[in-house]
Amino acid sequence: MQIYDAKFLKSSAKVSQCPKNDLPEYAFIGRSNVGKSSLINMITNNKNLAKTSGTPGKTQLINHFIIDNNWYIVDLPGYGFAKISKTIRAKWEVMIINYLTQRKSLICTFVLIDIRLKPQSIDLEFLEWLAEKDIAFIIVFTKSDKLKKAQLLKNITDYRDALLSFWEELPLSIISSAISKSGKKEILEFIAQTK
Ligand code: GTP
Ligand code: MG
Repeated sequence: MQIYDAKFLKSSAKVSQCPKNDLPEYAFIGRSNVGKSSLINMITNNKNLAKTSGTPGKTQLINHFIIDNNWYIVDLPGYGFAKISKTIRAKWEVMIINYLTQRKSLICTFVLIDIRLKPQSIDLEFLEWLAEKDIAFIIVFTKSDKLKKAQLLKNITDYRDALLSFWEELPLSIISSAISKSGKKEILEFIAQTK
């Protein structure tokens, strides 16, 4: 699959403000600064579609992008961002939880994980929560361009071991880089097969 046309549609502070529930939808989520917006720009071939930033907390609302007029990509705010007030963090959490549990047209959530880091409990807990709630997800390891091949393989093995310490089966995962564009084909193929 190829994306020919991608446009920003709207930002919503609540799931009730999201576009009418009529097209298949794929969301991108993960810790602040993990590379959600960059990955969306990479798969849509559009450097400026989703706003990216070196400062965590850039994406603060539920952002819908309409793709080829027949499906949506959703850019969500990051979780685990320390430098905001407790009130704002709680507001974001409610927004994300409501979106993930209530949005009927959500087909799958891509959970982004920075492959440079050791397995982080905040990500593992989030994955467990998704599984408990029966919310479909796949893992996308980001920033793979930043590691040498041997280190990349080691970090992926460590991650898989961490997951297998509490799960019997591994979820699907894709290794990506917004710089080298690796993972693009796999992500688009997964969407084409499930849409
Ligand atoms: P928030 O919206 O703040 O939660 O962040 P985000 O997850 O959308 O991250 P964003 O795409 O804004 O990227 C954060 C920083 O990481 C930016 O400086 C990007 O240039 C950088 N970055 C994102 N993806 C990659 C990647 O694959 N490789 C490298 N080397 N840098 C990346
Ligand atoms: Mg973002």
